[in-house]
Amino acid sequence: MTKVSEQDRVLIFDTTLRDGEQSPGATMTHEEKLEIAALLDEMGVDIIEAGFPIASEGDFRAVSEIAKNSKNSTICGLARANFKDIDRAWDAVKHAPSPRIHTFIGTSPLHRAIPNLDMDQMAQRIHETVTHARNLCDNIQWSPMDATRTEHDYLCRVVEIAIKAGATTINVPDTVGYTAPRESADLIRMLLERVPGADEVIFSTHCHNDLGMATANSLAAVEAGARQIECTINGLGERAGNTALEEVVMALKVRNDIMPYATGIDSTKIMNISRRVSAVSGFPVQFNKAIVGKNAFAHESGIHQDGMLKNAETFEIMRPEDVGLSATNLVMGKHSGRAALRSKLKDLGIELGENQLNDVFVRFKDLADRKKEVFDEDLIALVRVSDDAGEDSLVLKSLKVVCGTEGPQTAEMTLSVDGTDKSVTATGDGPVDAAFNAVKQIYPHGARLQLYQVHAVTEGTDAQATVSVRLDEEGRIVTGQSADTDTVVASVKAYIHALNRLIVRRGKTGSDKAEISYKDVS
Ligand code: KIV
Ligand code: ZN
Repeated sequence: MTKVSEQDRVLIFDTTLRDGEQSPGATMTHEEKLEIAALLDEMGVDIIEAGFPIASEGDFRAVSEIAKNSKNSTICGLARANFKDIDRAWDAVKHAPSPRIHTFIGTSPLHRAIPNLDMDQMAQRIHETVTHARNLCDNIQWSPMDATRTEHDYLCRVVEIAIKAGATTINVPDTVGYTAPRESADLIRMLLERVPGADEVIFSTHCHNDLGMATANSLAAVEAGARQIECTINGLGERAGNTALEEVVMALKVRNDIMPYATGIDSTKIMNISRRVSAVSGFPVQFNKAIVGKNAFAHESGIHQDGMLKNAETFEIMRPEDVGLSATNLVMGKHSGRAALRSKLKDLGIELGENQLNDVFVRFKDLADRKKEVFDEDLIALVRVSDDAGEDSLVLKSLKVVCGTEGPQTAEMTLSVDGTDKSVTATGDGPVDAAFNAVKQIYPHGARLQLYQVHAVTEGTDAQATVSVRLDEEGRIVTGQSADTDTVVASVKAYIHALNRLIVRRGKTGSDKAEISYKDVS
């Protein structure tokens, strides 16, 4: 059995670019994926699951380029249990200094029924596919999908087959977020005790958050002997998401007294990557989210503020600096220059390239002209929407709305469509509805509005509103975000941002990843 030594190393396997990107609407562009992969590599992630190469040409290209650019991390590609998927995954990762193939099949009764394989046929399939993968690559990860609902005897049997066929890491997924900490630990312990050869491989935990227990389940698995945690930045992922990287890393750091396991992650990079993932995926971070939420280090009540001033440890179990947040508070206003902006963003844990900084600076100046004080949250919102820039098909030129108690509310809009200005006047049930109708008149489309969400970034009536819009067009789901002191303008910009992403998605070659099915093992 694997011995739990005093300072065991736990490998961090990040799947933001695969399981995270799989969450509806979280699709990232090619450049965004490369940027996130570089940040993951730099922060010390041991293994980056960069995508699912068979899913689309785009996924293949992204995984290949991430593999070529990788410096420290192992680069992994996902494959179902068939030779075609495995060959494609290998073709994508093989140029990495350290490549890995991850192949999986659903082993629970419910999942076995889908490809219609009985226990013996599935066992045979596992033997053949893992052997094939191992003939291509020395580093093979195998996952029995829905492991937590698989019969224990069968799970032990197939794990043994995978190890004998050459798997070097056995990942144990709680695919539907069904397990609880004690059970998660017992499962790993059972596999380590019962499966011959278990002491020669690394056991990994992969938990979904449907019952809000993903992080606790992952840590329990580590205490039982798992030495790899699969996770995503901000817990991004299907349904309620995955174990959040920042949570397991900080939990192991802060409670090292009772969980003496080390990771190789530079925790000071956490805030920056959390913000970038939120910006590029279009998934805002919940205000009270552990570690990376806006309120995670905010102290509002008098008692807390008083305690904090006397000794920060009274109400803080970690320092903001530990996760890349600075305690300094440089006030920003309309006289602040580019250098001050760069330094402020750095304090906030945000490092931008020259082009992006220029874009944010223009937006910052515009905002500072309209708003008395520009708070940290305002700057974060500006960074989040700076990705709008580029060769967008649709650009908002002007908008004027008439609203109030006397309807109908009206929007007068000029939109540039592929460089040509088009103007309309539309009415609606409220100013946002009127403005969205104007967009639809100028740019007719069949996308359905799935989500419309507004948040005030700061206090006060001159606060910026951040708006998220999610659209669904025949299964292509995209999210747009924007921020502005004018809520209607922010709404229209977020809508247009989503439409621009949809236009890019439509133009992509190859099959869409939404069409890939986990059932296809043949
Ligand atoms: O949740 C899951 O089971 C997965 C597998 C593909 C490992 O993501
Ligand atoms: Zn998963």
